[in-house]
Amino acid sequence: MASVIFHVLLLIELAVAQFVAEPTNFTTKTGHAGINVRYKEVPAGICEQDPNVKSYSGFADVAEDQHIFWWFFEARNVDPTTAPLTIWINGGPGSSSMIGLFQELGPCGVDYDGNVYNNPYSWSNISNMIFIDQPTTTGLSYSIPVPGYTDASSGNIVALPNATCPDYADPSTCGTYNVYNTTLTANSTVAAAPNFYLTLQAFTGAFPQYAQNGVYFTTESYGGHYGPIFSRYILEQNAVNATGTAPIDLRAVLIGNGWFNPILQYEAYYNFASNYSTQLHQGGNTYGIHYNASIDNYVYNNMYGAHNCLDQLLDCNAHPYATNASDGTGNNICNAADNFCYAQVEYPYDTVFGRDEYDIRYLTPSPFPYAFYVDYLNSEDVQAAIGAFTNFSESSSVTSTAFGSTGDDAREIGVTAAVEYLIDHNVTFVMYFGDADYNCNWFGGEAFSKTLSNVAAYTNGSAGFVNISTSDAIVHGQVKSAGKFSFVRIYESGHEVPFYQPLVSLEMVNRTINGLDIATGQTILTSSYITKGPVDTTFNNTGSTVTFDILPLNATYNVTTNQPNPPYNVTAAAAASRRLLTRYDRALLDAEKINSRINKRMREARDVDVSKWKAHERDVMPLHYGRDAEGRRKTGRFALFADGAKGRKHSHGHHETRRRAEPRR
Ligand SMILES: *[C@@H]1O[C@H](CO)[C@@H](O)[C@H](O)[C@H]1NC(C)=O
Ligand SMILES: *[C@@H]1O[C@H](CO)[C@@H](O)[C@H](O)[C@H]1NC(C)=O
Ligand SMILES: *[C@@H]1O[C@H](CO)[C@@H](O)[C@H](O)[C@H]1NC(C)=O
Ligand SMILES: *[C@@H]1O[C@H](CO)[C@@H](O)[C@H](O)[C@H]1NC(C)=O
Ligand SMILES: *[C@@H]1O[C@H](CO)[C@@H](O)[C@H](O)[C@H]1NC(C)=O
Ligand SMILES: *[C@@H]1O[C@H](CO)[C@@H](O)[C@H](O)[C@H]1NC(C)=O
Ligand SMILES: *[C@@H]1O[C@H](CO)[C@@H](O)[C@H](O)[C@H]1NC(C)=O
Ligand SMILES: *[C@@H]1O[C@H](CO)[C@@H](O)[C@H](O)[C@H]1NC(C)=O
Ligand SMILES: *[C@@H]1O[C@H](CO)[C@@H](O)[C@H](O)[C@H]1NC(C)=O
Ligand SMILES: *[C@@H]1O[C@H](CO)[C@@H](O)[C@H](O)[C@H]1NC(C)=O
Ligand SMILES: *[C@@H]1O[C@H](CO)[C@@H](O)[C@H](O)[C@H]1NC(C)=O
Ligand SMILES: *[C@@H]1O[C@H](CO)[C@@H](O)[C@H](O)[C@H]1NC(C)=O
Repeated sequence: MASVIFHVLLLIELAVAQFVAEPTNFTTKTGHAGINVRYKEVPAGICEQDPNVKSYSGFADVAEDQHIFWWFFEARNVDPTTAPLTIWINGGPGSSSMIGLFQELGPCGVDYDGNVYNNPYSWSNISNMIFIDQPTTTGLSYSIPVPGYTDASSGNIVALPNATCPDYADPSTCGTYNVYNTTLTANSTVAAAPNFYLTLQAFTGAFPQYAQNGVYFTTESYGGHYGPIFSRYILEQNAVNATGTAPIDLRAVLIGNGWFNPILQYEAYYNFASNYSTQLHQGGNTYGIHYNASIDNYVYNNMYGAHNCLDQLLDCNAHPYATNASDGTGNNICNAADNFCYAQVEYPYDTVFGRDEYDIRYLTPSPFPYAFYVDYLNSEDVQAAIGAFTNFSESSSVTSTAFGSTGDDAREIGVTAAVEYLIDHNVTFVMYFGDADYNCNWFGGEAFSKTLSNVAAYTNGSAGFVNISTSDAIVHGQVKSAGKFSFVRIYESGHEVPFYQPLVSLEMVNRTINGLDIATGQTILTSSYITKGPVDTTFNNTGSTVTFDILPLNATYNVTTNQPNPPYNVTAAAAASRRLLTRYDRALLDAEKINSRINKRMREARDVDVSKWKAHERDVMPLHYGRDAEGRRKTGRFALFADGAKGRKHSHGHHETRRRAEPRR
């Protein structure tokens, strides 16, 4: 009986729109710089499972109609009042930091059944942690919340006069959204820095006890732009020491799979995918998934041919960084260059192999890292507990469109100089890269690292790669360090490194926070510290963890085997696909053909399965869930935009700027 009622309630909930009620019961404080903070203590069980570990969430009201969401967790195993403060932000632009919290390094994750599980490798084990959704409209940060729905034909969010879902709207798309206004977010990395800084001022003013022992800034992906620029801004503001502000004691910056220099990193798409390039790493990526000669030539010309990607990026970067609309020309050149390079240089790998940009070991759609937390954040009790005022989506189309208008993605915007500035100012700087990521691959990151002018021992061949030793005695990667600068390659890891390699990630951060070397955690870092070893990191992953099936959504990832848990068997699947090929077409030996063929076959196989899954998915996750026409998940990375628009679709009106299918999240 009880279960019957439960099911009936579920059905009603599905049929009813999920507008978000205005959050209540905040405590309000004034932080540093006069910034208002509204927050609530989050009850135990909402993410953090330990009732003795406090967590708070709320907003920093940084400007009129700009409310920055943050979620703070006390350190678990260090006294929170003496622990350092570690900041995490994701990239995008427009990607929510809830990605990092729930998929990577926060205290919890959410499983297929919608249950919260503890993350034993949470970075909050060793530090206070704050996750910040920025700029405004990203994640749970809001400008002006309005009731709305997603128009099925255009993908646009359309505002509604009140919180009633009209009959012409798909009820599952009715919800509370940010008003579509690109003025109420940031449109470039430089423009985003002040509100990020003010959020820190607000938090450290309201909770001074949590930042007594240094501040560490960790980020990912587009964080290759955010991290250096925001960090330099913080140091500059410390020097300004404006009335009412407090210095932020920034000691280290760690950036995972960062997007630093677009020119070098667009080149790296070619180098990573190629089997012939000798520019950086002979033989391309270390998983053996390379273009054949014909596709190689096609992408090479797209990249290096006259008037193509490289020329366009050079043209873009010759135009000064535009912070005002008067430099429309430069913005347009950059935006066009980025669109061109994405379509002609980055994206071919996706279509040729059908593989996940964020982890080439998987075909798309990949179930890793798990995206079930999206629906958790859209459940009423969680919304009330954390004070959410809008529905949650992983990526803000308002923010990504605003950044698109300045072409920020294609611009170097002084990132190199900012990293050099940090190194000059005694800030520890760590670049770490999961080596199975294509989106911000380590070839590009390493190429960027070699352009830094003030780490001579790193760039002149004195320093070399050494294995990273960890408490489990397994080698998960290598590091090359000189002084407080390190480049880290993590093996068998996609874009979101702490998901795939949680132990080495935690120990790397722990060592950095403790002022120790990444390689061993035994040596105090000084300006003369250096790792001795080969100049290049040449480990060959051999492709033994590359999968050949589209995995079901309930698959789980095993961080010991670096593979999906059984029943899926990589070895057996690879053997089966080889047999299939031998039987059907011995001539089809080109990797891209093999893979697209397997991909198609597996898609067909999975399509049958999908019907079984759908009912369950919709029960647990009513909002924005399900699959689009191509079988892609609507939440998660495949439709990252709140309005449900497909990434590559160029729609009309104010949505004209392109949206990446693959943000640098
Ligand atoms: C507000 O908090 C008080 C206790 O602090 C509680 O009794 C009350 O139910 C809360 N109201 C809402 C709407 O959550
Ligand atoms: C993290 O802390 C929890 C206790 O809060 C503990 O159970 C877990 O083992 C710790 N993880 C590591 C890797 O030490
Ligand atoms: C809400 O707006 C609809 C139009 O979409 C209107 O018909 C309805 O009367 C309004 N409801 C309320 C409670 O104002
Ligand atoms: C967008 O926001 C700005 C700043 O608040 C405001 O001036 C402008 O009118 C808004 N535009 C729309 C279309 O609402
Ligand atoms: C910042 O200014 C305050 C006075 O407003 C002063 O007490 C403090 O020493 C200054 N800090 C630095 C680092 O200059
Ligand atoms: C970007 O935002 C700034 C305000 O931060 C504004 O002055 C500028 O005009 C905007 N640029 C574009 C291209 O909209
Ligand atoms: C550099 O930072 C470390 C701590 O991160 C500190 O011990 C040292 O004194 C600093 N050196 C300088 C020159 O500021
Ligand atoms: C963090 O580093 C400290 C100091 O080296 C060490 O005592 C502690 O065990 C480390 N914790 C983890 C989780 O690695
Ligand atoms: C890497 O390993 C694979 C499989 O063993 C092999 O085919 C390939 O030649 C190796 N690549 C390099 C660069 O050694
Ligand atoms: C995943 O779901 C499929 C289809 O419902 C089921 O056959 C399989 O046993 C499940 N796998 C796991 C690991 O739960
Ligand atoms: C991961 O694989 C290891 C080694 O096969 C196994 O012992 C462990 O139980 C697996 N973990 C999970 C969660 O299944
Ligand atoms: C995977 O398949 C291979 C080859 O069929 C077999 O040798 C191996 O034992 C299987 N592994 C597991 C964990 O079932």
